[in-house]
Amino acid sequence: MRTIPALAAALALALSFAVPAAAQNAEIGGDFVLKTVDGEPFGSENLKDRPYALFFGFTHCPEVCPMALAEITFSLQSLGEDADLLTPVFVTVDPERDTGERLKDYLGSFDERIVGLRGSEDEIAAVARAFRATYRKVPTSGGDYTVDHTAIIYLIDDTGAFFDKIDYREPYEAQLEKYRRLIDAHKAKDG
Ligand code: NI
Repeated sequence: MRTIPALAAALALALSFAVPAAAQNAEIGGDFVLKTVDGEPFGSENLKDRPYALFFGFTHCPEVCPMALAEITFSLQSLGEDADLLTPVFVTVDPERDTGERLKDYLGSFDERIVGLRGSEDEIAAVARAFRATYRKVPTSGGDYTVDHTAIIYLIDDTGAFFDKIDYREPYEAQLEKYRRLIDAHKAKDG
């Protein structure tokens, strides 16, 4: 007898979150131009007609970024040749320490298809705003700092529109399923 009210309550809760989330999602993403690890301009124009997956982070991140990048790497490998239809993008929120060279070295530990991007503080702040992502410097002992940041993988479709998001440590099969749906939608259009 307790099952049905509990289910109804869960559904009501899910619906109450679903509506505003959908309204917000329509506004996630947009045009941007940053720079690659080699200093070349790279942005949404380069990603035109391709789905992409974008993650904000920084190379000194102790846990979240290495984990997310390892999961992205594993997903790309699991997707097989379909992974080539998708561009994974890592945008640093710490351009002060993440020079192009540093970013390049760091990403060398992960799938080579991941595109590292950086820019000025203002350029990065603008991209983060477009994606409704937040980050902030937090001082640590010894005059150092870490950066708290949104840990979402944004999935953008081949029209540049928000498609879905992957939350930090989301169950692995669910992550793969989202990548597959994104790529399948792209293939269906081209097919
Ligand atoms: Ni991080």
